[in-house]
Amino acid sequence: MDKLKITGGRALEGEVRVSGAKNAALPIMCAALLSAKPLALTNVPRLRDVSTMAKLLAQMGVTVNRQEAKTVLHAKEITEPTAAYELVKTMRASVLVLGPLLARCGEAKVSLPGGCAIGARPVDQHVKGLQAMGATISIEHGYMQASASRLRGARIVMDLVTVTGTENLMMAAALAEGETLLENAAREPEVVDLARCLIAMGAKIEGAGSDQIRIRGVPSLGGAEHRVMPDRIETGTYLAAAAAAGGKIRLTGTAPESLDATLDKLREAGARIEIHGSSIDLEIARRPGAVSVRTAPYPAFATDMQAQFMALACVADGTALITETIFENRFMHAIELQRLGADIRLEGNTAVVKGVERLQGAAVMATDLRASAGLVIAGLVAEGQTVIDRIYHLDRGYEALEGKLTALGARVERIK
Ligand code: UD1
Repeated sequence: MDKLKITGGRALEGEVRVSGAKNAALPIMCAALLSAKPLALTNVPRLRDVSTMAKLLAQMGVTVNRQEAKTVLHAKEITEPTAAYELVKTMRASVLVLGPLLARCGEAKVSLPGGCAIGARPVDQHVKGLQAMGATISIEHGYMQASASRLRGARIVMDLVTVTGTENLMMAAALAEGETLLENAAREPEVVDLARCLIAMGAKIEGAGSDQIRIRGVPSLGGAEHRVMPDRIETGTYLAAAAAAGGKIRLTGTAPESLDATLDKLREAGARIEIHGSSIDLEIARRPGAVSVRTAPYPAFATDMQAQFMALACVADGTALITETIFENRFMHAIELQRLGADIRLEGNTAVVKGVERLQGAAVMATDLRASAGLVIAGLVAEGQTVIDRIYHLDRGYEALEGKLTALGARVERIK
């Protein structure tokens, strides 16, 4: 199993280009299921999760053709509307095929995702919404068995804000008969990017980006070309890394408007940030100040940035409170950060992090994708060597991580 060896203690300096957003690419790839015509995508990141989704779609009869810059998905015919446990268990976003399959084929068999390292993560809201649209869904042998001759539009009030839940229902509603109103919808930029792609395919959608999305169903969707939005979490991760390690970096190809909460917090930590079009410059000349964060649905501070900000807090001047409100078990990185010498006390869903002057390199274990990113940041700051085990988590969501960090002057090496 690959490991990542980081020799810390060097400030970051240089320029890198961010990739397309994983969390936009995955639902958009599923949108291809809604049409018999090809969907051509650019800016699709090269990530393990993207190949997993391609494999999942291929099992259903979708041809996925990835060339240099373009990925074309063609669901001319769906031969097998099934998502098997073997793939679903490795990537929860697989549940995004449920809505599109049901809308296009009138049936779907999708494995329940099961637990994951960061908590229970149920899919009850996805199921409830599809049932409101007329689907019959039963659980058989660990699979959701869904059927509907044609989905009907409905008014759906979601009990809580769910990103993939909103996306699943929006895709299903695009082909339903009549109008669907999604209330308490997720406002994440990735939901907006998916809506943009669906609209290009001929869907009638209004309000994406607000908590009320109106979808008028159409009988069929066509083909389209779409450019996947930049990854705001990847962007935020490199910015947090530079804020922790010190230095001056430029990120290009970003979507700065999707990063307000993160940029505000980095400024609060003492970083100077300048935006020129799609580039973000960050410079920090002193030890970062402690900043507290509380995760919540967009536009508030993202749970996917929590681990990175905990790492930043570990070396900041002062004490920060890191509060996680989205997932119940998303502090596993705290234990690993303590191995590097961090002073962290867990109190329920809050971590009290007292910044220390220096961390010390050690062997640590990655537990999930964003937790690993937090460990990488800590490793960049720590004295000596940090070896991160189980970096397959990082490969799920960070394209060319070592290459990009090296371009920023960090000393990182993948050990096979
Ligand atoms: C998405 C992101 C993930 C991010 C998360 C929160 C993708 C592919 N993944 O995950 O990176 O961390 O949003 O921003 O976009 N919940 C229920 N019932 C449901 C659905 C969700 O109780 O039917 C709960 C979850 O357990 C969690 C909260 O709602 O506590 C938010 O989860 P959700 O927004 O659905 O996360 P994902 O869409 O899985």
